[in-house]
Amino acid sequence: MHIAMIGSGYVGLVSGACFADFGHQVVCIDKAEAKIEALKKGIIPIYEPGLDQLVASNTKAGRLSFTTDLAEPVSKADVVFIAVGTPSRRGDGHADLSYVYAAAREIARSVKGFTVVVTKSTVPVGTGDEVERIIREENPDADVAVVSNPEFLREGAAISDFKRPDRIVVGLEDERARDVMSEVYRPLYINQSPLLFTSRRTSELIKYAGNAFLAMKITFINEIADLCEAVGANVQEVARGIGLDGRIGSKFLHAGPGYGGSCFPKDTLALVKTAQDNATPVRLIETTVAVNDTRKRAMARKVIAACGGDVRGKTIAILGLTFKPNTDDMREAPSLSVIQALQDAGAKIRAYDPEGMEAARELLADVAYGQSAYDIAEGADALVIVTEWDAFRALDFRRLGDVMAAPVLVDLRNVYSEDEVRKHGFSYVGVGRGR
Ligand code: UDX
Repeated sequence: MHIAMIGSGYVGLVSGACFADFGHQVVCIDKAEAKIEALKKGIIPIYEPGLDQLVASNTKAGRLSFTTDLAEPVSKADVVFIAVGTPSRRGDGHADLSYVYAAAREIARSVKGFTVVVTKSTVPVGTGDEVERIIREENPDADVAVVSNPEFLREGAAISDFKRPDRIVVGLEDERARDVMSEVYRPLYINQSPLLFTSRRTSELIKYAGNAFLAMKITFINEIADLCEAVGANVQEVARGIGLDGRIGSKFLHAGPGYGGSCFPKDTLALVKTAQDNATPVRLIETTVAVNDTRKRAMARKVIAACGGDVRGKTIAILGLTFKPNTDDMREAPSLSVIQALQDAGAKIRAYDPEGMEAARELLADVAYGQSAYDIAEGADALVIVTEWDAFRALDFRRLGDVMAAPVLVDLRNVYSEDEVRKHGFSYVGVGRGR
């Protein structure tokens, strides 16, 4: 199969490299010349474990290439994926589809022969209809089937998520696309990953409903964590106790500082807007969005309380800045709200993150960055774990205690237990562990 991947960002690059690894012939396209030039040299613009080797080996094998020119690869393609960005539109929370529609127009001008055009970007219900309308308007002779095939990749685990998915969802209106999409995903579904065919609108909604449900699950356990603190219960045990019920399941029940990232905040908001526009408000999700927003700042109050109620002039060391480990992504990271709120309360901030400091520098003012946990702990009045990188899972508390001004650990990811930290003379505050 010949595949053209429009958009070489996170989703496009991971999907393109994985399809090439399946043996397909893939061209990744992007308008950003610097990015394409870098990719041609094997420089990957994002941090994703395993992606550099996957890109290198498939480029070497001649199955994966990069270009800024859309016309040629699209004309040769059996399948064209649209994997461009759909940021939240400023002001109204709707997904901004201008890049998707621009890609559709360009595709229309270049397609030759029967071509399946797939939206992989997360797009609101009805976008596939509009993509099809645009292509037909631009080129009435184009022979295309427009398909929805949402991605469910988690940053940091994207390659294994792509290669071992729980399911592959394909929404189509033109039956000719069924065989083509089966062929594209053949290596996966012969390995028993279910390939679920639905209508195009259903597929588009599955993506949003899935993300909203997970966001709701996290927010649910976060509220239960607050209740645990108030009544003297332990949220990790509650999560285990309810998660063993197969109807609930154990995943996405880790209490923490609130969800962040490029998907949950954006997609929940877009779903709320779509539902409001269709006069069927999704109140559970509206509440989830509001609760999660409040939670991020509320975490700063936890830190302030752990410092005796006042952080004016105190130094707080922040461990972990990215919205989760194994990524350099700072989008909607809880650390941003926590740090801003602590600065508003008069604290001085020192911070360390294995991959996120470059992006953080552009988003945060007046933060002193260090080279390790021990480096930023020097003279600090509290150490706060905001992101659970593996490197923070076996900290040497004796060494930390020696250099800190006050031995206080605020563990917003419940990495440690109170007992193991206390024995080194630290005071400990976790999330939802009222005992
Ligand atoms: C998510 C979806 O999982 C993926 O299917 C979709 O395609 C894109 O959005 P991602 O944003 O990469 O992936 O990260 P994920 O691992 O889902 O975590 C999202 C946020 O939820 C993070 O901030 C994480 O820290 C938080 N989270 C997750 C919790 O607070 N508790 C949990 O139990 C799980």
